[in-house]
Amino acid sequence: MSCHISNFSLPRRCAVSNPVNSSQPKADSQAEGSTIDNESTIAPADSACAAAKYRLYIETVGCQMNMLDSEMVVADLRRHGFAVTADMRDADAILFNTCSVREQAENKTYSALGRLREFKLRYPEKIVGVLGCMAQKDQGLIFERAPFVDLIAGPGQLQRVPELIRAARERGGRHTAVSLGRTDGKLEVIRRSHETFDPLRDPAMRPTPFQAFLRIQIGCDKFCTYCVVPMTRGPEQGRPPQQILEEARILADQGCKEITLLGQTVNSYRYRDGDRTTSFAGLLYLLHDVDGIERIKFVTNYPKDMTVEVLNAVRELRKVSPYLHVPAQSGSDEVLKRMKRGYTVGDYREMMSRIREHLPGAAVSSDFIVGFCGETDEEFRMTVDLVEECRFKNSFIFKYSEREGTKAAANLPDNVPFEVKQRRNNELLEVQNRISLEDNRRFIGTPVEVLVEGPSKKSLREGEQGDAVQMTGRTHCDRIVVFPGHRRLAGQILPIGILDVTPFTLMGTAITTRSNNDLVQLSVSGPAIHPS
Ligand code: 5AD
Ligand code: SF4
Repeated sequence: MSCHISNFSLPRRCAVSNPVNSSQPKADSQAEGSTIDNESTIAPADSACAAAKYRLYIETVGCQMNMLDSEMVVADLRRHGFAVTADMRDADAILFNTCSVREQAENKTYSALGRLREFKLRYPEKIVGVLGCMAQKDQGLIFERAPFVDLIAGPGQLQRVPELIRAARERGGRHTAVSLGRTDGKLEVIRRSHETFDPLRDPAMRPTPFQAFLRIQIGCDKFCTYCVVPMTRGPEQGRPPQQILEEARILADQGCKEITLLGQTVNSYRYRDGDRTTSFAGLLYLLHDVDGIERIKFVTNYPKDMTVEVLNAVRELRKVSPYLHVPAQSGSDEVLKRMKRGYTVGDYREMMSRIREHLPGAAVSSDFIVGFCGETDEEFRMTVDLVEECRFKNSFIFKYSEREGTKAAANLPDNVPFEVKQRRNNELLEVQNRISLEDNRRFIGTPVEVLVEGPSKKSLREGEQGDAVQMTGRTHCDRIVVFPGHRRLAGQILPIGILDVTPFTLMGTAITTRSNNDLVQLSVSGPAIHPS
């Protein structure tokens, strides 16, 4: 079925924005604290691609949940004879795993599909599919706007992708697998229509073999008025702890050292089995016992569920990163009320004091939406004040984007002009960047412990050859570190001395260990010696 098309003018990749939500794993050069609008991720080609029965091109936009979904889809399709190609012209199936959180991401996916139109007319045997949140949200609209699309599958129906591809190939026509809407039946039935899809772990699909996402929860029941996620990903459901543990053990056996637990409100995790309930803190204790796993991170947190129990677990468990991504969204009570976030700024402040008391030294990051319906200058000022006060490690700042199907779209006018949203976005970003820079300066001259991920973005961009290249990694608190290193260091946890910083990156040098186990800091304020 594969055919190589050498002279077709289709771009090798379609550019789709990638509004990644929170902050890991991510490239070293990504502007944390910025409005995130970077590129989509294209799954890298398999070495065995040429020999495979079918070839798959998959492009992913959006949050870590989507990255994980794509990993699962690829693993599943590999079992059905597919290998991944990074060139869509070579592919038998072209899949877009999409995001609906902001309009811009959707527009770019539709543009990418538009660019595919002519190609698909020329090569109708190639299967084009739209997966993920847009498939669930837009459903038939996708076929109207891009009539050549063969299949759509929502995030709760990804297990059906191989079957849909086969049906499209063998029978032609359009194929749809979506979950039930939030009012389409009894809660249990709706829940069952949103399946978690996590049975297959394939280390080849991960950005690095020693880091993995692990889903512990799907869906969301918070219904913030601006957010489309409760509609696209359905009711909140925790996965059984035994399943999560089993998956963590499989990952550890594959050489994975760091797991990032995923959930829309990950710290609200709760699993009831008869009269036994496992809380999020309880789950952390269970996962901490998995041999081989060295670091445990988790995103994204909900402020009201950042309990003392959770904070104490993070403090007591050395593998759990003292890094908390807890979106505040706004510093104004009135705006929070319109957003239906379920807490006040006072509650958020109390949470921050709880964190400082029980987990001193923790890095806290946040998300903010600027220009939400009716946001006044005064309300925006309160957000700036909150950022100044909380001194977040970084913040992701988003301009409000009205989403069909949400309460805000139905009841609140999107009446802050685009230029005002842009101006507020820039101002908040400037404040956050100054704070991030001040915060990072504390590290100059000190060693930090880094899980080395691989060559840095800069190294890849500049096509550095050989083994000695600039490497990148992250600290336990999720700070990005770059240093001159060696490819073979990937996967190691190393002390790096910090020499200089930007708001987003710590720049350092590897610290060597002497035979007497003393650490020698190379060129960090002279050769100082630290006890190991
Ligand atoms: N417009 C802008 N930003 C949004 N987010 C969620 N929905 C919207 C929207 N409609 C942001 C929130 C959330 C992050 C994942 O995306 O800040 O925390
Ligand atoms: Fe969306 Fe709010 Fe749920 Fe987060 S908590 S996914 S912002 S509805």
